[in-house]
Amino acid sequence: MSAFKQPASAQSRTSPACCSSLESADPGHAETPLPPLATGLSPSTTALHGPLHLRRSTGPLITPITQSTTFNQRRVGECDGPTYSRVGNPTVDQLEAVLGSLEDAPPSVCFATGLAAETALFLALLKAGDHAIVADAIYGGTVRLFRQVLNELGITATFVDASDPSAVAAAITKNTRLVFIETPANPTLKITDIAAISRITKAAGVTLVVDNTFLTPALQRPLDLGADVTVYSTTKHIEGHSTSLGGAITSRDEKLLERVRWIRKCTGNIQAPFNAFLTIQGLKTLPLRLKEQSRNAQVIAEWLAGHHQVQTVYYPGLADFPQRELAARQHLGGLHGGVIAFEIKGGTEAGAALLNAARLCRLVEHVGSVETLLTHPASMTHADVPREQRLRVGLTDGLIRLSVGIEDPQDIIADLEQAIAAARPASIVHRAAAETFDPGDEHDHVHAHHAGRRVPDAAAQARVQVKSTVQTNGGAACISR
Ligand SMILES: Cc1ncc(COP(=O)(O)O)c(C=O)c1O
Repeated sequence: MSAFKQPASAQSRTSPACCSSLESADPGHAETPLPPLATGLSPSTTALHGPLHLRRSTGPLITPITQSTTFNQRRVGECDGPTYSRVGNPTVDQLEAVLGSLEDAPPSVCFATGLAAETALFLALLKAGDHAIVADAIYGGTVRLFRQVLNELGITATFVDASDPSAVAAAITKNTRLVFIETPANPTLKITDIAAISRITKAAGVTLVVDNTFLTPALQRPLDLGADVTVYSTTKHIEGHSTSLGGAITSRDEKLLERVRWIRKCTGNIQAPFNAFLTIQGLKTLPLRLKEQSRNAQVIAEWLAGHHQVQTVYYPGLADFPQRELAARQHLGGLHGGVIAFEIKGGTEAGAALLNAARLCRLVEHVGSVETLLTHPASMTHADVPREQRLRVGLTDGLIRLSVGIEDPQDIIADLEQAIAAARPASIVHRAAAETFDPGDEHDHVHAHHAGRRVPDAAAQARVQVKSTVQTNGGAACISR
């Protein structure tokens, strides 16, 4: 359905990363240079400068914040610039131009939040009686939007395991208008084959939407693989510094973008100019940050996978990740992003104790910032997803999401090490302390200190907290997003 002509050089970018001269025996591990955009510039250059036609020979280097609700009009009916900031604003325009050019597309459409972008997109594409196919492993807020808001408007959704393309094909009905996937999925990192799904949606005349928040255009370009639309919470990696909310819709279909822009004007959810300014600044280092975060995540995921207290680790760069081949084919540069999910032995209580004991890694409801962040999806980001749907996609009550930042990975490992030690169930701790404590050895002394006093406290606190949060499927004190 794309009306925007894809330049030849953009098509050549679809060649798999593993065809690079840097190819190694282990394709998931081979880092390759990020391919250039249709403009001939690399994504790191475009993220910094935007499209070259916007380059000015005079004026400020940094995009100014046009903090004005409205704009002068020369005469009645005569205006050649913006009119009102709910419809368009020069600072937001600049962000839209950069985001669009990162996907060889016309300017994106930017919103106050990621969910505002999704809402506008669904209002633009769906009406009462229409049906959507939605991947079952996605951000909880999107699930809530379909189940509790769009459903009330007469728009139905079928949740399927989109990592199995035949399940998507089987769910298509005569009323299906849209397929929505998120890959890698939040938080289990399950991967969906975008090219395979796009062959199905194209044959059925259905719009394919990909939430590309986790990898961003720096590491994955769904439009090159046949998707019609990408959606972003720019709040996450794109802005990258936890200072501003935002969302974006990108497509090569100009008509679709026009309709989304019109819905934004009607519903009034454009991004604020100051937030657009902050997002432009953050975006400048996006490829650099994601490269570093991916490298750090690889080191930390391998360390977690070798830890005796860790039960499961999900990270597409790990040798035993079930969809490793697909990840290597679909992700750019041989990099897999900064998000890891894992579970430690001892279940929910141990997981909560770990989260409470972490000191450097921050416990927050967020992902994609320069700081390393820990989240408990079952009680936070996915609290509104029905428990059986969560468990079906592997989102257990004890699962921990780790969004790796740009710190030295060894500092993160040291923090996780002490937090995991603090989370050991009291029975194991006491046994280990009795077996290993040697008063002459300072290293052991530290462990015995954790084992004897600090650790049972952390586990006991976690038990109390877990009862009042996870088991009620939502935080009693914290309001989930
Ligand atoms: C993958 C994904 N998509 C969309 C959203 C919604 O974005 P926002 O919080 O900016 O509304 C989130 C938020 O966490 C997310 O993780």
